[in-house]
Amino acid sequence: MSTLETQGLGKTYGDFVALAPTDITVEKGEFLTLLGPSGSGKTTLLSLIAGLSEADSGRILMDGKDVTYAAPYQRDIGMMFQNYALFPHMTIAENIAFPLKMRKTSAAESARLVKEALEMVRLPHIADRYPKELSGGQQQRVALARCTIYRPSVILMDEPLGALDKKLRDQMQFEILRIHKEIGGTIVYVTHDQEEAMTMSDRICLMNHGRIAQLGTPADLYFRPQSIFVADFLGEANLINGRLVSEAGMVRLNDGSEIRVSLPRPIAQGTEVKVMLRPQNLRLAETANSDSISGKLISSSVTGASTKFFLDAPALGDKPLIATRATGLSEAAPEPGRDYRLTFDPRDAVAIPASEAA
Ligand SMILES: Nc1ncnc2c1ncn2[C@@H]1O[C@H](COP(=O)(O)OP(=O)(O)OP(=O)(O)O)[C@@H](O)[C@H]1O
Ligand SMILES: [Mg+2]
Repeated sequence: MSTLETQGLGKTYGDFVALAPTDITVEKGEFLTLLGPSGSGKTTLLSLIAGLSEADSGRILMDGKDVTYAAPYQRDIGMMFQNYALFPHMTIAENIAFPLKMRKTSAAESARLVKEALEMVRLPHIADRYPKELSGGQQQRVALARCTIYRPSVILMDEPLGALDKKLRDQMQFEILRIHKEIGGTIVYVTHDQEEAMTMSDRICLMNHGRIAQLGTPADLYFRPQSIFVADFLGEANLINGRLVSEAGMVRLNDGSEIRVSLPRPIAQGTEVKVMLRPQNLRLAETANSDSISGKLISSSVTGASTKFFLDAPALGDKPLIATRATGLSEAAPEPGRDYRLTFDPRDAVAIPASEAA
């Protein structure tokens, strides 16, 4: 049975649809991430699940039980937010014990659980300190201990690492995954950082304008985007204009050439499409026999582990093409101003109907 299910769950503010009626099923133990641009409805959805705001359509089921109108504390849910929201006048131990106190756990049991929780987040020595005596990362660990202490079956996290610097964020991602494994609950996590979402999630629910754009595994969304929005949002994508001339997967480009592509879903012959090719799947070559497109090299830049090439191909799309390859001194440097072929494996060229912009 699924831990958490929304059926037609929606929220409006006056005429504005913050969340269109939404169906999501989250499996027991799953790590699901809500990803999407600012204002896409991530917090709205999370607040409805938490019971912090009221839905104006649909239902929320937890373990099959309707909790749509249950108060937050009646839902078997733990919460963690971006601003750590620790109580400043309570010690760390008191902060972590707070959910237990609300649930009338005995003092002895509470003390034991707090000790265990502090060990779990690797802060066993700070029980008697106050929040202001901790670093941001430490406070976030305490918040993590607090929201997991009573082992809720679902934990909701809204950009919990947003306030931390990159290095600390990487560490905390690892900690959250470790604790998720250890306690085995279901997590619904919000971020607008696509790399964080790809690293942490079993599945990603990518949202746009209060709707689900696509829900699937990180690989599904990255390699098989069903719309241009999804292709563009997750990592870099070249989007090349063309028309499907064969339902077996042949696209005629606007420069007259034809390329083989893969079709994640059937598309009717004659449909205008955009062919998505990730920069790392395009290889710069002097000549090519098949499965290639061409462009004039504008510039290249070493970004660290990879070198990025920008190529002009006005017939193929609005933006320069981007190709990357691993940086290495042994590779000959291509010359700006010259025409090159960009070869690819047709399995990496994904056709998306051009009309599906959202
Ligand atoms: N109380 C409110 N009254 C009116 N509009 C609201 C209210 N709360 C949210 N909204 C609107 O609903 C939309 C979705 O907001 P939401 O907070 O869910 O976005 P989000 O995806 O969490 O964005 P962010 O990444 O910036 O946190 C936004 O356009 C927001 O302005
Ligand atoms: Mg938000």
